[in-house]
Amino acid sequence: MTGNTAGPALPDFPWDSLADHAATARSHPDGVVDLSVGTPVDPVPELIRDALAAVSDQPGYPTTHGTPELRQAAVDAMARRFGVTGLDPVAVLPTIGSKELVAWLPTLLGVRAGDVVAIPELAYPTYEVGALLAGAEVARVEGLTALGPRRPALLWLNSPSNPTGRVLPVEHLRKVVDWARERGTIVASDECYLSLTWESSAVSILDPRVSGGSAEGLLAVHSLSKSSSLAGYRAGFVTGDPALVKRLLEIRKHAGMIVPRPVQSAMTAALSDDQHVVEQRSRYEARRKVLREALLGAGFRIDHSEAGLYLWATRDEDAWDTVAWLASQGILAAPGTFYGPTGNRHVRIALTATDERIAAAAARLAN
Ligand SMILES: Cc1ncc(COP(=O)(O)O)c(C=O)c1O
Repeated sequence: MTGNTAGPALPDFPWDSLADHAATARSHPDGVVDLSVGTPVDPVPELIRDALAAVSDQPGYPTTHGTPELRQAAVDAMARRFGVTGLDPVAVLPTIGSKELVAWLPTLLGVRAGDVVAIPELAYPTYEVGALLAGAEVARVEGLTALGPRRPALLWLNSPSNPTGRVLPVEHLRKVVDWARERGTIVASDECYLSLTWESSAVSILDPRVSGGSAEGLLAVHSLSKSSSLAGYRAGFVTGDPALVKRLLEIRKHAGMIVPRPVQSAMTAALSDDQHVVEQRSRYEARRKVLREALLGAGFRIDHSEAGLYLWATRDEDAWDTVAWLASQGILAAPGTFYGPTGNRHVRIALTATDERIAAAAARLAN
C-alpha cells in the first residue's frame, strides 16, 4: 500500500509488479505477445472517426448531460442490443470512459466512512479503489450470504466478469435486485462486456426479467471501449434509476466531468450502428478459439470464460509461477491475484492482440 497524508491509502498499481516478467517476455527473439491488459488493437471504425472529425471545429463547451442525440442513441442501443426497453433519455449520462465512473461512483453517491461497498470476490481493481476513495469499507464477497446482516450502501456486479468471464443468470441477478431493494442498497452493474458472449448469453441489470420493469435503485454502467474499440476516445455512459442519474449529473456538472463534444458525436455514431460491433465480436471470437485450443493443448485448464475478453486459465500452480513460465515463452499474462486473493492459482489471458500476435502465442504454446 502507498499512503500519503492527503488521501486514502490505495493499493499499489498492480501492473507495476509485472515489470520483471515483462522484461523477460520482451526479450523473446520474435517479440512479446502482451496479453496482460485488455486494450483494443483493431482500428477505430471509419464511421466513428468520421463522426468525431465532423464536429472538431466546435469551440464551445459541451454539455455534461450529453447531446439529446447521444442520449437517444444510448436508449435505442440498449433496446436493440440488450432488450432493455422503457429507458428515458433523461436517465442517460455520458462518462469519460467507465473507469472514472467506477472510481468515483461511491463518492458521487455520497457513500462515506462507515459505509460498506460490496464487490465481487474476484474483481476489476477499480471497484475497491472507488470504495477506498470514498473512505468506505470494502466487502469482497462471493454471493449475498457472505454479507450476513450487513447492508452495503452500494453493491457492484460485473457480468460477464473481468477476470473470470463468468456470466450471472437472470434468476441470480433478480435475487440480488430483490435483496438490495429490501435493504436500500444501490446496485451498480458494470456491463462493459455484455455484447461479448460466447457460450452463454448475458443480460443487463435493467432487463425487465431482472429489474421487474423498474430501474429503482439500479445503475447500468456501459463502456464503448471494448465493443467499439474506443478505449482511446474514453467513451462510456451510465443509465438506470432517474433519481440516481440526476444526482450524478448535478455533481458532475459542478466538477467538470464532461465528455468532449467530438467524443459525444463519435459515441452517437457508434451506438447507432451494430454492424461494427458484430464484426469486432467475431474478431475476438476467432482469437479466443485459437488461444483456447493452444492453452488446453499446453496443459492449461480454463475455468468459466464463457463470455468477455479473457481466458481464466490455470496450471494448478501458483499464479506467479504460471506468469513466469509464460514470460519465458515471450507471453505476458496477468496473475489472478491482481483481482483478489482467491485468484492465486489462475492467470488472466486477454484476447486483445492482433491475429498475428495471437498466432505467435499459439505457436509458442505448441512447442
Ligand atoms: C470490468 C471493467 N470495468 C470497467 C473498465 C474500464 O473501461 P473503460 O474505462 O475503458 O470504459 C474495464 C476495463 O478493462 C473493465 O474490465
